Amino acid sequence: MSGLSPESIQGLRSPLARVAEVHEALGSTQERARELARAGTPHGTLVVAEVQTGGRGRLGRPWGSPKGGLWMSLVLRPWFDASLASRITQTAAVGVAKALWEIGVEARIKWPNDLLAGGKKICGILAESSAENTTGPAKQRRLDYAILGVGMNANLDPAELGVPDREVTTIRSELGRAVNLLDLLRALLSNLEAELGRIGDFGAVLEEWRSLNCTLGEKVRVRRFGHTIEGRALDLSQEGALLLATQCGTVEVLEGDIEHLRHGGEG
Ligand code: BTN
Repeated sequence: MSGLSPESIQGLRSPLARVAEVHEALGSTQERARELARAGTPHGTLVVAEVQTGGRGRLGRPWGSPKGGLWMSLVLRPWFDASLASRITQTAAVGVAKALWEIGVEARIKWPNDLLAGGKKICGILAESSAENTTGPAKQRRLDYAILGVGMNANLDPAELGVPDREVTTIRSELGRAVNLLDLLRALLSNLEAELGRIGDFGAVLEEWRSLNCTLGEKVRVRRFGHTIEGRALDLSQEGALLLATQCGTVEVLEGDIEHLRHGGEG
């Protein structure tokens, strides 16, 4: 598969990909990684598929995954407790953004964790975690595993992604040439390893997030719990929530989808 095989991936010597599975087709790498995690696979297991027939994104949305993309999920067994799980997505977004810059794509992070190039979505991140089955506050619960999914629109035409209602782009259309998927994976794994390795110093991660983002300063619309809020994105809280200046004062948004609004329209 485009230079990707368990052997070539293990040749990268990444601690995040000590175990690697490469499939021609899978329902979802996320589901396969979860299956492996439940069966006890170690930290640093990577599942890649050339095609996903049931790829999914945040909020249960379908994620078009035809041939040419890099569809992957990592099994992580984090050392930190469950209360820090929400940091994974933004920390990963910083790593993925840096990897894209390394291969020549000037990517920006749209809160919380979409990667855009030229204002169009080029990559999505899906982090899901499972805490140990003990009672008590999250602070005292260890994370059993986290599954970090990365959906990278790599060597395809945007039209192949089948999302006519959303503005999407691909690495190939940004660079004007195909990218070697093993080189892309190398850049992703090394940047993810570096960023996830300093998740305990989340203030430093968020500083980088700020320098790579395209949301702060923008007028945005947030849809949550059936209603919408509009405001200007001011900053992030210490744990990465979005602080919005609205007509009713500052509102902290913990999760959800945002739209960037430009000139009174949608952007
Ligand atoms: C989003 O932006 O909504 C997140 C998209 C995440 C897609 C990736 S592709 C690899 C992995 N497998 C899945 O089914 N989803 C993630």
